[in-house]
Amino acid sequence: MSVRRLADEQPARFDFTPENKAWAEKEIAKYPPGRQASAVIALLWRAQEQSGAWLSRAAIEKVAEMLDMPAIRVLEVATFYTMFNLAPVGRYYVQLCGTTPCMLSGAEAIKQVCREKIGAPGHVTADGAFSWTEVECLGACCNAPMVQINQDYYEDLDKASFAKLLDDLAAGRPAKVGSQTGRAASEMTGGLTALASLYGVDGKGVPAIPAAASTPASPSAGPARDASDADHEAHAAAEEAHVKSVLATLPKDATPEEKANAVGARPPGIAAARDGKPDALQRVKGIGPVNEAKLNELGVFHFDQIAKWAREEIRWVGTYLAFPGRIDRERWVSQAANLAAGGVGLKDDPTSKTH
Ligand code: FES
Repeated sequence: MSVRRLADEQPARFDFTPENKAWAEKEIAKYPPGRQASAVIALLWRAQEQSGAWLSRAAIEKVAEMLDMPAIRVLEVATFYTMFNLAPVGRYYVQLCGTTPCMLSGAEAIKQVCREKIGAPGHVTADGAFSWTEVECLGACCNAPMVQINQDYYEDLDKASFAKLLDDLAAGRPAKVGSQTGRAASEMTGGLTALASLYGVDGKGVPAIPAAASTPASPSAGPARDASDADHEAHAAAEEAHVKSVLATLPKDATPEEKANAVGARPPGIAAARDGKPDALQRVKGIGPVNEAKLNELGVFHFDQIAKWAREEIRWVGTYLAFPGRIDRERWVSQAANLAAGGVGLKDDPTSKTH
């Protein structure tokens, strides 16, 4: 571990606010008499939060006084754990994971962006907005490379997405928390390699239309289809929850486009239907006249366009149309792929059901 020292410039004193003091006293009271030192990390953390994300000598000494500990013991704790900052940090404090999985996945390129846009590690930009440091594994290795900025994780980064993220934060624009490539949680980056029969084989985690939906119904199709439906519904619900969790971080007056941009990428559109003949998108169960018109406005006129939507594009359109999760729930992509290939959609199958 590197040597960690207190900042050269120190405030003269530190006192907890009345609210934090009351909280600290409750925290100390959780431990038996003589064991108040057990509250040291909790109190240091609250002191750090109160001081703008760093600990001064005065704050360390105040915690020592409240816990009846020698100041050197509290200083040892504060200098040992890198979660405690010993000098001021930026309003956006970037902790960049440089441990092996992130390093192998491109953390060096992320570091280069930090150097170019912020400066050396520990340097606070002139406007006080940014500073950065390299830290050990933050436990999100499946989505490497990643950084933590204040309380949020930003994952699946590359040079361009990270540079854009810093630019968005600097400009006060909404920034997308979590995976920057649109992955849900830690799903496979290259599509499914197992259980494909349950989830479909399009490699995008998009459940396929059950066989019963594109072939005449048979009595034996019922149970298998129900099992698939339950699985499918769970996938759609997870999608919806993921998108809603991102939307919850946005300002209330964000436009539909800003919301959609925060969760995905707009699919490429075309200026007009090929040969002036748009497909009847309403053959996709779930697309009515209103949504068909909105899709046309987005430059979507043909089944094969919808069939090509990637996960990020599904999220963008679903959010733009204000129904996250519904495109998965109603299997638009699989229906459109079938229709583009001359097959049927769920609307053509009288036995089909949507959820
Ligand atoms: S190695 Fe980077 S989060 Fe684990």
